[in-house]
Parts: sequence; C-alpha cells; structure tokens
Amino acid sequence: MAKNRAADQQCSSLSLLHLFTPSPNYCTAACPFLRANQAFKPLFLKSFFGGYNINKSIIIPAGLQKEFLMDKFLIRGGKRLSGTVFVSGAKNASLPLMAATLLCPSRHSINGVPDLRDIRTMSMLLQTFGAEVSFNKDKLEIDSSNVSFLEAPYELVKTMRASILVLGPLLARYGRARVSLPGGCAIGSRPVNLHIEGLRLMGAEMVLEGGYITATSSGRLKGARIYFDVPTVTGTENLLMAASLAQGITIIENAAKEPEVVDLANALSMMGARIKGAGTEIIEIEGVSDLKPLKEYRVIPDRIEAATFLCVAGITGGDITIKNVIPEHIESVIAKLKESGMEIIEANDTLYARGPERIKSVNIKTMPYPGFPTDVQAQFMALMTVAEGTSIIRETIFENRFMHVGELRRLGADIITEGPVATVKGVKELRGAPVMSSDLRASAGLVIAALRAKGETVIDRVYHLDRGYERMELKLQALGAEIERVKG
Ligand code: EPU
Repeated sequence: MAKNRAADQQCSSLSLLHLFTPSPNYCTAACPFLRANQAFKPLFLKSFFGGYNINKSIIIPAGLQKEFLMDKFLIRGGKRLSGTVFVSGAKNASLPLMAATLLCPSRHSINGVPDLRDIRTMSMLLQTFGAEVSFNKDKLEIDSSNVSFLEAPYELVKTMRASILVLGPLLARYGRARVSLPGGCAIGSRPVNLHIEGLRLMGAEMVLEGGYITATSSGRLKGARIYFDVPTVTGTENLLMAASLAQGITIIENAAKEPEVVDLANALSMMGARIKGAGTEIIEIEGVSDLKPLKEYRVIPDRIEAATFLCVAGITGGDITIKNVIPEHIESVIAKLKESGMEIIEANDTLYARGPERIKSVNIKTMPYPGFPTDVQAQFMALMTVAEGTSIIRETIFENRFMHVGELRRLGADIITEGPVATVKGVKELRGAPVMSSDLRASAGLVIAALRAKGETVIDRVYHLDRGYERMELKLQALGAEIERVKG
C-alpha cells in the first residue's frame, strides 16, 4: 500500500500521464499500469523474446490524447520585450543521457533536466523496461537495476523518434533488443539505416520485421570501424553507447560533432568509458566490460532554446539577457544575427541581446554542427519575414522542414519555396491570424512571428512546442509578452 502510494506520488510529480491527459484523477487511477512494469506486465501479451508486449489501449487512451491536443496559444503581438530569461537544460542532451543509464544497472542521477513532454516519454519508455524513474525539480533519478523487458513499443516510439536511442544501450548491455522502427515525421523521412548498419558491423544480427528492429548479439558486441555517409546525431550517440561496452576498439568516422554528442561522451567517460575525439569527425572508443553509474551529472544548457530567445529579441526590437548559455554552442547563429543588425554581447554563460529598429536580411544554409542548426531555421525564417531586403534560406538536413512557410504566409509573410530553398522578402508588418503548429521548431517560429504581428494570433496544436520548450509562455510573459495558454 505504502509502496503504491509512493509510486502514485512519483507518477503525479512526474506527470507521466500528463503526456496524454491533464487529468490528475486519471493519472492516479492509471498509475498501476505505469508503475515500473511490475503491476502491468501480466496484462501484456507474450512477445518475441518471451517477454511481454504492450497493450495499446492501456498506454494511450485515444479520447484523452484528443483532449490533450487541444491547447492553444493566444498571442497579442507588437510589444518590445525586455528582461532576463533562464535557459533550461538541453532536451537533446538529456534524452541520450537517460538512455545511457541502461548501460549500467544501478541508480543514476542527472541534474538540469527540463520538464518536457519528450523527457516524460523517455521516462515512460525506461519504466516500460522495468526501470524506476523519479523527477524532482530538475533532477532526474533513474534506477535501472531491474530492467528486464527489452522492447520499445510502437505506441511510445511513434510519439518520439528519439526512442531509437535505447537500441544501442539495450543491445550492448543485454545482448538483445526489440525497438519499433520510427516512421517518417513531419520534417522528413528520417531513416535510421546508419544506426542499424553500425550495430551490424559491430557483430549484431539485425532483423527488420513487422515494423520492429530486432537486434541480437551472441556475447559482447565487437569493436568495428564505422563510416557514416552523413553525420547523424542520434546515430553517433547510439553507437557511442554501444561501443562503450563492446570488446575492442570502435572508430566512428564522419561522426556528428554536435555539443549533445560531446555531452554524452563526457557522461559516458564519467561512467568509465574510454572515448577520444568526441566533438571531432573521428571518435575512438575502447570498450570496457562494465560501466559505473552516472552520478549528479549536469546536462548542458539548451542551445536551441537560447537561439530561439535571440530571435525573440531580434523580432521585437527587444533587449533580453539570456542566462545559462554556452555561447560557443551557437556561434553560427550569433554570427548571422549580428550580420542582421542585432547587438549581442557574450559574457561567460550570459548573452545580452538587443534587436535593432529594423532587422536586415541575411542568407542562411543549415548544416551539421558547427554550421547553422536546422533546429533554428524556422525561428530565423520568422525573423527574416520582417527584415529589410530578401533572405535566401537553404535547408540541407531535412527534406520537408518548411511546414511553417504556409502558416507564416497567413500572418502576412512573403515567402516562396522551391525545393530546399525559401526566398523570404521582408515585409514591414505581420498581422495576427489563426495558425497551426506542424512540428516543434515550426511552432517556435510561429510564436516568434506572432510576437511581432499586429493584433491577435491563435496558435493551434502547441503540444508540438511542449515537446521541447519548458514553460515557454511563462518565460515570454516574464519578458512582457502578451501570451496565454488556452486549455483545450
Ligand atoms: N540520416 C540518414 N540515416 C540515418 C540517420 C540519419 O540518412 O540512419 C540522415 C537524416 O535523414 C538527416 C541527416 O541524416 O538528413 C541528419 O539526421 P540526424 O540523424 O542527425 O537527426 P536525428 O539524430 O534524428 C537530431 C535531433 C534533431 C535535429 C537533428 C539534426 C535529437 C533527439 N534530435 O535528430 O532535433 O534536428 O539531430 O541536428 O537529438 C528537434 O529537437 O526539434 C530535432 C528534430
């Protein structure tokens, strides 16, 4: 009973079910299903490994999903924003760290983790495997000692592609894993062939069947030389984790150099992994037989959130102090914003940003790190809609990352696209209108445009934004924005 109550409390503090429903009653009622597997395992069907499969209707009650999807933002634009904002920990660094806890069955703690939908989804996934997860303020504690269920079900993977990050650690630690193949998403087809090929080169048998990747390895994975055709962030992270427990040396060539990859390598090194070259194109990992738990590791600040607030300062002609930033992580964005006329001063972990009377047009091309991040393209485009002159924006990472264009046009933007190139002719003013979010960063772009638009903008489907921005509307309100969340 006491144990159940503790788990219920844990569930409501984590708000795991808030992912699907804002109702606390439902959360408590459903808790036995979410409580670290034990109570709900018997309800599952036998799966491939003789483990258990998830019963769809329990995990995602469709009616409740609908309820959750109805939240909107109501923004009255045109205000000059000023004040100080504190950037949260990085979502895309926290997710691989959470997956890395599967490499060592023990109690782990990670600090500075943002309270976001994607973090809750990954928590749920770890709980599905049998881990215990608790989240207090920004501290995440994961006990992976009792992990026994090695399957990432479609029902969770389809809500968050980054679930693929559990494939490498489960396979390396337990010799098998079954992970639903992530499908395409709004921004592109996003294959995971490089993850799969890399693990195959490390000696795993990889079978794709029924929408699942089934990976098995007899004994430890073997070190291998892996070359990526294109640098992949989560692919590099998956192989980094797998190689840390492999036998022998793994070399990843054309590896992703993103700060989130380096953060993971730092955490793995604290756990006892032997990694050289993270942050460069060639990473060398000497496998070890065991890793130590991750203790009190602090996740890096979210560079994409910091860049988003820089664009907010730019478009509102604002004066914003952005705290908890590693400026080096967004040098490409800072350079482009300075070129557009913004004043940005870097001081340790703080950026002072001031927008000019009118922004000037500049061109950008998205590139892997340290190039201009694709995750800031929509926000930058929003800024360019009111710039003086014409801006050419070229998206080279994802084939369909212009979903925000049609919505920005509804606000009065003058944009034409041809394949991966968008031509943005700056207009003097935007005007409020109802618009719809299509993905996480597109939503951020719409918020930025709406903060400038005259009149009222209603942004539908802000659940996309909630995946990656912590308390966005509260942070903007503190800067003087007129923004409110309208509950669905
Ligand atoms: N690619 C392949 N094969 C693979 C993997 C990737 O062809 O096996 C291609 C992709 O199609 C894409 C390119 O490689 O054209 C780069 O994709 P990458 O694998 O690097 O993307 P990702 O790891 O799936 C992460 C971030 C994304 C971010 C991209 C690019 C996480 C959890 N996600 O995705 O973040 O856009 O890197 O920087 O780290 C976001 O936060 O909004 C977001 C989408």
